[in-house]
Amino acid sequence: MSADRLYIFDTTLRDGEQVPGCQLNTVEKIQVAKQLELLGVDVIEAGFPISSPGDFNSVVEISKAVTWPTICALTRAVEKDIDCAAEALQYAKHKRIHTGIGTSDSHIKYKFNSTREEIIERAVAAVKYARNKVDEVEFYAEDAGRTENEFLAKVVQAVVNAGAKVINIPDTTGYCLPWEYGEKIKYLMEHVDGLQDGRAILSTHCHNDLGMATANTISGVMNGARQVEVTINGIGERAGNTSLEEIAMIIKCHQSTMPVYSNINTTKIWPTSRMISSLMNMPVQPNKAIVGKNAFAHSSGIHQDGVLKNVQTYEIMDPKDVGIDENSIVLTARSGRAALRHRLEVLGVQMDQEKLDKTYEAFLRLADKKKELNDDDLLILAGAEKAESNHIQLESLQVTTGKGVTPIAAIRLKVANEIFEAASVGNGPVDASIKALKQIIHRKMVLKEMTIQAISKGSDDLCKVHMQVEHEGHVYYGFGSDTDIVTASVDAYIDCINKFKH
Ligand code: KIV
Ligand code: ZN
Repeated sequence: MSADRLYIFDTTLRDGEQVPGCQLNTVEKIQVAKQLELLGVDVIEAGFPISSPGDFNSVVEISKAVTWPTICALTRAVEKDIDCAAEALQYAKHKRIHTGIGTSDSHIKYKFNSTREEIIERAVAAVKYARNKVDEVEFYAEDAGRTENEFLAKVVQAVVNAGAKVINIPDTTGYCLPWEYGEKIKYLMEHVDGLQDGRAILSTHCHNDLGMATANTISGVMNGARQVEVTINGIGERAGNTSLEEIAMIIKCHQSTMPVYSNINTTKIWPTSRMISSLMNMPVQPNKAIVGKNAFAHSSGIHQDGVLKNVQTYEIMDPKDVGIDENSIVLTARSGRAALRHRLEVLGVQMDQEKLDKTYEAFLRLADKKKELNDDDLLILAGAEKAESNHIQLESLQVTTGKGVTPIAAIRLKVANEIFEAASVGNGPVDASIKALKQIIHRKMVLKEMTIQAISKGSDDLCKVHMQVEHEGHVYYGFGSDTDIVTASVDAYIDCINKFKH
């Protein structure tokens, strides 16, 4: 039997971007969308246009920037949401509206204070309304994972009859077991007219609360689903969504027994993963399948010995198949602009000459401090000009610290183009610096959390600092990176302040 095409629906820019601290601006979202196009995804869920002017604008701009993937916009089963999504999608070459409503008993009772009959009516009305705006409508039955199969089949039948082409069966809470989720898809395939003949297809959308998102997705595919909803690095609400790279590589590694194939160019997985991690300031756990830094590192003696004798003893995938090419990822101070441009392009970053020149200057400054620059360093440098337009900028920081001395910091800030200076002692260099900063910025703010991460190795490495600062009941996420750990921390703190709403 010949394999079917499995459609890859990427929701990094919608479900993934909902994660606190992972928000991107429109320029960054366009960069991600273009990289997803290179990766070969079929559908890009670009946002939830009614939720904010920023989301609306991103859907508009991504629609203009991307050529062949379908651009999808999320809505509730509400006419004004659908109007807004249709308007945001006006420039898309291929467009889809993704509308839906909760179908589990708890959603019907507590979220909508409604009845099963009324939910079906609202679902059908939304699909018909959306079909008047665009040809391709996808319907999601929120919390389908906990919806009784017989009722779910009635909902799905009704929306297929109303003209939905794709029916999304989300395991919204990540509760299902793989066999149970597979049974659900099988039940729908057998009980809904229009699924066997391809009038509509089923889509999986699995969350990872119990660590089963990928297993559930594969179980859905083995039972008939022909679209999967995934994110890069598995980012998403709470424990995240099914990760694209895991599904793509499972299909590739098990090609001979899988009923499906995909259009993903797997060699673009690694650069895409690095780009998302860097733009969203979201580290990838080292043991993450496919894209973790240890995913291809054999540390035990027995494994290393086996791999040296024959790589297949312990490796089921060639790192090159996911785009890891050990020889090409390090640049030095002797690398020219062309090498920098080439490496950035491999990582999905396009620059005009002016920005390349600025980035190259920063590259040389960093290469002076750190001999070899890897992909993470380059991605950070590529994003560094963001800071130039910020209201508050760190001009200089001088710190004295060490064993047996009281740490003291002198700080110089530019606030709306005016220079301010202050100094303070503290119980450590970061504390002294933040106390000095607070003498200039008189806002009520509390540091809630701080994570320090060295990017790869070596005492000369760039350090990344993630921070959460509370201000007037809101928590703001900030990020800083520098070869100096105290400077990176102060940069992260200032990044939080620059995001304050008031
Ligand atoms: O998890 C979910 O149910 C969703 C829907 C809005 C598609 O993200
Ligand atoms: Zn979701």
